[in-house]
Amino acid sequence: MTHETLTVTDNRTGKSYEIPITHDTIRAMDLRQIKVNEDDFGMMSYDPAFKNTASTKSTITDIDGDKGILQYRGYPIEQLAEQSTYLEVAYLILNGELPTQAELDEWTREITHHTLIHENVKQLFDAFRYDAHPMGMLISSLAALSTFYPEASNIGDIKSRDLQIKRLIAKAPTLAAFAYRHSVGLPYNYPDNDLSYTGNFLNMMFKMVEPRYKPEPALERALDVLFILHADHEQNCGTNAMRSVGSSNVDPYCAAAAAAAALYGPLHGGANEAVIRMLTEIGSLDNIPAFIERVKNREVRLMGFGHRVYKNYDPRAKIIKRIADEVFAVTGANPLLDIALELERIALEDDYFIERKLYPNVDFYSGIIYQAMGLPTAMFPVMFAIPRMVGWLAQWVEMLDDDEQAIARPRQIYLGARNRDYVSIDQR
Ligand code: CMC
Repeated sequence: MTHETLTVTDNRTGKSYEIPITHDTIRAMDLRQIKVNEDDFGMMSYDPAFKNTASTKSTITDIDGDKGILQYRGYPIEQLAEQSTYLEVAYLILNGELPTQAELDEWTREITHHTLIHENVKQLFDAFRYDAHPMGMLISSLAALSTFYPEASNIGDIKSRDLQIKRLIAKAPTLAAFAYRHSVGLPYNYPDNDLSYTGNFLNMMFKMVEPRYKPEPALERALDVLFILHADHEQNCGTNAMRSVGSSNVDPYCAAAAAAAALYGPLHGGANEAVIRMLTEIGSLDNIPAFIERVKNREVRLMGFGHRVYKNYDPRAKIIKRIADEVFAVTGANPLLDIALELERIALEDDYFIERKLYPNVDFYSGIIYQAMGLPTAMFPVMFAIPRMVGWLAQWVEMLDDDEQAIARPRQIYLGARNRDYVSIDQR
């Protein structure tokens, strides 16, 4: 008979402990009983960067990194990308089920209703310098929204919580587009509520003097698929920031600003920007072998490759590669694509990448598409943050409703000096 337990023997004391195993996991707190003597604090687990620690149970997003599978609420990403829309997927991620037609219509109406931002937020954008990075503007404006909706701090009020969720999903594209328009010195475009979520975003980004902006259907759909692919990705750095900061019971605007700040980093949502810089630096197919050597000598990383969870081809990268063709049919080809395809071909045949299971991730091709759509590289992490908002919010709600969660507060192993007497400055 098998026992769902782990037996641990502490060789310092010779004592054995039987620790329950649930979902192939032991509870770190069960280690605390392992003590050398009564005064001992008890055993802890040490896991910098959470490489082997589950911080939560979740029912939202499932990734099988070895097989390259991604599912939202049990639905494969490939089917959602093929048949659904971003707003429908957002509903699914938040509510756990696909909406009926009536539910989807109401959800779409409500999101559309909240797309405007307070006029004072425009002044906030105006205060930024002309070359301010749009991600810095997005992060700041998300936090600023908390001052416009002080009731949001009442996170236990479910009605208010739902309203803030709708506001954040509705306003994220508006904030993002305003940040872009400021950075290029163009007047802000107000939302057009007759357009789809992505069609309206393109309108706020690119409308010039025409009375009505008509989004190119192929680009509108490509962007919608990209948004579906980026909607959630379980406990990544940004989501962990959302949960961790949210665990202090701060309002969702401030928690979302923290999540967006985490996403900004080049190892996370900033990677697609870094991919474009890398491809531009490589410049031509002839320079690829020398660049690969530099990667193998650890001088640089091959940006857009590798993932903490995927040890196989990122399923999102496969879908994005297909969308690229549809976008380029409208925009004309992006010359960086040839370099990316050749880089991928060489890397996937090279032992360095094979041994380490390094495959293209979502960011390898997304930047090339965004660039073809006319977006500056600085906007790429913003394009990741807009759709990820729903993932952050769903994970935030799951955290708030989880009785086992408390304020996120890790332990440390203190290895510094102790018990030193203060030395006055003239004696040092
Ligand atoms: N280029 C070259 N070597 C790499 C790369 C890379 N992109 N990624 C990992 N490695 C090597 C690394 O040097 C290490 O080798 P060794 O064992 O010899 O020291 C091994 O592979 C394992 O790497 P790691 O850094 O321990 O892996 P990690 O799980 O901590 O890091 C990662 C994951 C995504 C930060 C990393 O793969 C990376 O820096 N990739 C480039 C940046 C990137 O594309 N980020 C986007 C991630 S996907 C979007 C998102 O979810 O945010």
